[in-house]
Amino acid sequence: MILVTGCAGFIGSNFIHTWLEGQDEGIINVDKLTYAGNLENLAAFTNDSRHHFVQGDIGDRGLIEGLLKTHQPRAVINFAAESHVDRSIHGPQDFIETNIVGTFNLLESVRTYWSGLATEHKTAFRFVHVSTDEVYGTLSPTEAAFSETNAYLPNSPYAASKAASDHLVRAWHHTYGLPVITTNCSNNYGPFHFPEKLIPLIIMNALYGKPLPIYGDGQQVRDWLYVQDHTRAIACVLQAGRIGETYNIGGWNEKANIDVVKLICSHLDLLKPRADGKPYADQITYVTDRPGHDRRYAIDARKVERELGWKPNETFETGIQKTIQWYLDHPEWVAHVTSGEYRHWVDKQYGEKANLA
Ligand code: NAD
Ligand code: TYD
Repeated sequence: MILVTGCAGFIGSNFIHTWLEGQDEGIINVDKLTYAGNLENLAAFTNDSRHHFVQGDIGDRGLIEGLLKTHQPRAVINFAAESHVDRSIHGPQDFIETNIVGTFNLLESVRTYWSGLATEHKTAFRFVHVSTDEVYGTLSPTEAAFSETNAYLPNSPYAASKAASDHLVRAWHHTYGLPVITTNCSNNYGPFHFPEKLIPLIIMNALYGKPLPIYGDGQQVRDWLYVQDHTRAIACVLQAGRIGETYNIGGWNEKANIDVVKLICSHLDLLKPRADGKPYADQITYVTDRPGHDRRYAIDARKVERELGWKPNETFETGIQKTIQWYLDHPEWVAHVTSGEYRHWVDKQYGEKANLA
């Protein structure tokens, strides 16, 4: 089996869906269940013995070392992080604690476990660290997309904390020989996305008749990747990625924020017209820009394509349609997330089973 962290969140829960839909190898999922952790994302696996959920912190060495010792996973994939740039601006402390100190403690727990493995298992073991393109900083409109050799120039507290974690992971390989691989991916979108991030926020605010906030002039560019393309890439990296390497993952889908928002509005106009017949774009509202807002991100994904044969299945147009339809088809999930009801899901759905450590 494999041990994953932070898989009650957006990308991690999609990873579990991708993984368990394709095979039977079991997963131990350690997640602290911060505001971003939502076990409703994994409701499909509530009674599935292949998914073993443990509520806990990646920084809790006693817990992690115990789990590693008991379950003897062949790999660890670290998704757990504080992930929202705006929150990191308002309060960076949690980002330092989880993304930097937490990753350090996780690396130490994994190193202890890995050091004690028999040679055959030691050689086969992998630690995959899931990171972001934001570590590379910002691009001008004409600069080449980020490749794996770009300098790290993080600009937000979030990006700086992820950059620090990437450096730790790299150092644990070079110094201790831990078999690590790091992935740096562009902005994801898709099912189970918490509505603090642009795309789900716009879909949900539109449907609830609220303003659609555009920071600054709305001309900031992000390189969007459908989340299940990302989770497939992580599975490819685990299977065939080269130890000590980093892989940039992206969908060659650069879009200005305002164009993303207008596209969502025009899809919603067709799929769920407003009661008053007016376009959803009327709800667009320009608001004060984010401090230090990075202007453009773009990923050069040729290495992962060339070495691992990975390519995205979705274009932005197909992915955004699937995403909007998913939100329309899951009003209960949306209502629970909006009301905070999702936070009681663990007790209601899992009860005593929530802590299986
Ligand atoms: P998310 O915020 O939706 O989920 C994070 C999960 O980690 C939550 O379930 C949370 O409960 C858990 N967590 C937080 N602190 C923890 C701790 N100390 N111990 C255990 N669990 C903890 O984030 P996401 O969007 O799913 O991102 C997952 C990973 O992918 C992050 O490392 C992020 O930096 C990276 N990433 C995200 C994007 C994106 O567009 N969302 C793009 C590239 C990379
Ligand atoms: P976000 O989803 O927070 O991801 P990130 O900051 O990690 O790229 O934001 C995506 C882009 O959308 C980013 O340029 C900020 C912008 N944005 C808005 O214009 N309005 C919003 O309400 C939010 C949440 C983001």
